[in-house]
Amino acid sequence: MPANLRVFLTAQQIHDRIQELGTEIDADYPEGPVYLIGILKGACIFLADLARALKTAARIEFIGISSYGRGKTTSGQVKLTKDLDVSIEGHDVLIVEDIVDSGVTLTYLMQVLAQRRPKSLRIATLLDKPERRLRPVEVAYVGFRIPDEFVVGYGLDYAEDYRNLKDICILG
Ligand code: IMP
Ligand code: MG
Repeated sequence: MPANLRVFLTAQQIHDRIQELGTEIDADYPEGPVYLIGILKGACIFLADLARALKTAARIEFIGISSYGRGKTTSGQVKLTKDLDVSIEGHDVLIVEDIVDSGVTLTYLMQVLAQRRPKSLRIATLLDKPERRLRPVEVAYVGFRIPDEFVVGYGLDYAEDYRNLKDICILG
């Protein structure tokens, strides 16, 4: 592992917490199917594990959003780079995100998806950095609340690197 990385959450800790989230989500959506909408690319690994932690029926979709350039802070501008291929009207929808930081991305996405009249619309995020919030967002399921550190691994990148690390690490 490069010297500028410190393990913050181990693969085991992440796995255990996702099982707990799965149990919570199962209890809230006993009927199914729940539409899991992963935000590319960071959420893909979390989504893959969360989907398998569920007993309730789930469908998997992806949406592309860009708000960050190659740096560590938001550009403040959000746009849809890949839309859904399906209609979510009348369905239970869970947006699956890797990390909520300023809240700009999810505020935008909640607005866009709410217009499509899903039966319900909630957010599940693996990580939350509440100190950094610029826009209030209601997050129904949070894996870990973390301090204001830049983290990579388990889907999260810095300039497209480190997404395939098994642990979540602080990039120093
Ligand atoms: P927000 O719009 O500021 O909430 O941005 C959320 C997005 O910023 C996430 O989906 C990540 O792609 C990225 N991001 C925020 N904090 C981090 C971090 O610590 N590591 C890697 N990506 C981050
Ligand atoms: Mg992201």
